[in-house]
Amino acid sequence: MKITLVVLLFFFTTQLSAQHGPVFPQPIKLEQTTTKFVFNGRLTVDETQIPKDLFPYFQELFGRQFIHLEAVPSKQATIRLNRIQTFVYTEGYNLTVSNSGIDIQYSNDESLRNAFQTLNQLIQNPRELAGVTVSDQPAFSYRGVHLDCSRHFFTINELKKFIDQMAKLKFNRFHWHLTDDQGWRIEIKKYPKLTSVGAWRDSTLIGHFSKQPVEYDHQKYGGFYTQEEAKELVRFAQIRGIEIIPEIEMPGHARAALAAYPELSCTGQQLPVVGTWGVFDEVFCSQEKTRSFLKDVLDEVMEIFPSHVIHIGGDECPKVNWEKCPKCKSIMTENKLKTSHELQSFFIRDIEKHVNEKGKVIIGWDEILEGGLAPNAQVMSWQGVEGGIAAAKQKHSVVMTPTSYCYFDYYQSGHPSEPLAIGGYLPLEKVYQFNPVNRLEEEYKQYILGGQANLWTEYLPNIQAVEYNAFPRLVAMAEVLWNKSKVPYSDFVEALSNYYLPQLRNDGVRFSTSFLDPKLEIRPYKTGISYGLIKPVNEVVFSLNNELVTGINIERTPQVQEHRYLIHSNIGDQELRVCDYTFTSHLALGKSVKFDTQPHEKYNHNGNLGLTDGVIGGIPWKGDQWLGFNEDTIQFTLDLEEVTKFNHLQIGTLNDPGSWIYRPERFQIQTSSNGKKFKNVAKSKMNGDLIEVKKKMKARYVRVLIYSKELIPPGQTGAGFTPWTFINELILSR
Ligand code: ACM
Ligand code: ZN
Repeated sequence: MKITLVVLLFFFTTQLSAQHGPVFPQPIKLEQTTTKFVFNGRLTVDETQIPKDLFPYFQELFGRQFIHLEAVPSKQATIRLNRIQTFVYTEGYNLTVSNSGIDIQYSNDESLRNAFQTLNQLIQNPRELAGVTVSDQPAFSYRGVHLDCSRHFFTINELKKFIDQMAKLKFNRFHWHLTDDQGWRIEIKKYPKLTSVGAWRDSTLIGHFSKQPVEYDHQKYGGFYTQEEAKELVRFAQIRGIEIIPEIEMPGHARAALAAYPELSCTGQQLPVVGTWGVFDEVFCSQEKTRSFLKDVLDEVMEIFPSHVIHIGGDECPKVNWEKCPKCKSIMTENKLKTSHELQSFFIRDIEKHVNEKGKVIIGWDEILEGGLAPNAQVMSWQGVEGGIAAAKQKHSVVMTPTSYCYFDYYQSGHPSEPLAIGGYLPLEKVYQFNPVNRLEEEYKQYILGGQANLWTEYLPNIQAVEYNAFPRLVAMAEVLWNKSKVPYSDFVEALSNYYLPQLRNDGVRFSTSFLDPKLEIRPYKTGISYGLIKPVNEVVFSLNNELVTGINIERTPQVQEHRYLIHSNIGDQELRVCDYTFTSHLALGKSVKFDTQPHEKYNHNGNLGLTDGVIGGIPWKGDQWLGFNEDTIQFTLDLEEVTKFNHLQIGTLNDPGSWIYRPERFQIQTSSNGKKFKNVAKSKMNGDLIEVKKKMKARYVRVLIYSKELIPPGQTGAGFTPWTFINELILSR
């Protein structure tokens, strides 16, 4: 018995390192060899070859692991550099560790940096290094992270720490969102009011945007980066292999600029820098004067940022003011533009021409497709991948950043302790499923430059909150943008918790451990429901009242009854966090529902038990638990398996207009004993958030029809789109 155990453990360890080693993202090819290199805390590199500007960074990086890196005459070097000009992949490198030292083949600074990042992570102890051969190159050339510094402001030092972490994961683009409605953050010398006025708001919203009544903190808030500071960050990022792409939003998201220069709007009305979130009708007027102001701004921006690509925003621009504005109307007439979308396209093309004349190209959010894409524009596809696919088919370069995989402002778990977020649900595992070229026909894949994680900061008031939302999801993003043949998720998380979380801890970076929470595997159980507590990694254990536990069973009851469990999870003697589960028992618990209208793939869980799993959708909504539908009529049928008496039926619904979620308008309940003939038992308008019927009922089948608003009403966020309907749980009782 003992022997079997030892053998199994050994097998497990070997397999682990074969699946995902200590380097993140996992190199394309990494093979362990039987040699080792003993270096006793000191590594040396050829002083004639190591680039002078990179060397101090490498020294600092290795110093964090207490390894002294020294530049020495080439004969004495233990890290031997061999520059090969003809390497096919510009960022690729080869690295070999043998008993005589470390050999690196590289082609340029990018590939050398990647080799050093890999070497740094391979070192598991400061004395010796296991033999290995690595051959590596990234899957995508654009591996980006976006950070919104308008909604909340972060200092240059905070940004340096963040960019430094990006570099370790071999990201190579930092998309710096510098302007928006809530603050203009970059000094523009020709227009000083952009920062003296536009960088400051008088007050900021407290709590979620959809909370009523609204409440403000009445505190002045703001800040901006001088051009010198921005240049300093550019240099800092360059050394780490990261290009900064600045974003200047136009024509929408312009409230901060218009607070400084109201004459650039359609109405000329003086309005303050706004302290709440959303989309605003006050946008840049399309008049010549505004466009030439923006060209001046871009001229200074292009002087600060050497990047070839300049982001000009382009998203979420309401056209209501344009449609009323005489200046905009005359531009439409003069240029024979039929719609306001064509006017936006005209605006962007004009800006593009100016940027192109300076030898640079523009990138914009996918709305720049509306009304016709500017001739040389790149597209950042956020609303889904459809915009990106359409742009690729027009042979334009694309960065994929669809909300469903890339919006790191979404909740990463439904745990009650999760800090307030904008909404949505994006756990680590979902990020790991991202593939920027999914759904693309082979011939168009070449136009997809890569992908990007976006950190919008309405609900991230400080850099610790940014880090918590970023990590470890950025590790998963780095992985999928680098390595197309990624290891199974379970191997990735095992390696993440063994190798990468300790590095984040060592670097003082905040991160979430939500991916280590138990995953509930829900199965019907003869008298109710059974919840298996699935371990995300092998080392984690769960306990309930100090006893180890692997699952919980709940009996079905005629009355609604709550069962609360506090599950502690530990790795060794380190406690991760306590998961507080409340399971609710009732007559429909564990009974199957047949959905005639399918829940949307984003908000669907537990299959046909999603409404009867005993887990009631929580408020505030944290992305999971609730089933979400994106249709105006919803129908499903519960099968109780035998004719059952009940006096009470209820289904919770959610009302969160800020997240495009609306309470349904009316419902209808039908019952049947044979599943063929149904009779109406209730038909009603909604009265509050609960679908509820109180009467004596007796049936095997219960059919529910829910009718929602067809479209989000004018004046609300998402106006004109189909609202979401969220429901949970279907409870029957006596
Ligand atoms: C965006 O999220 N409005 C690009
Ligand atoms: Zn106008």
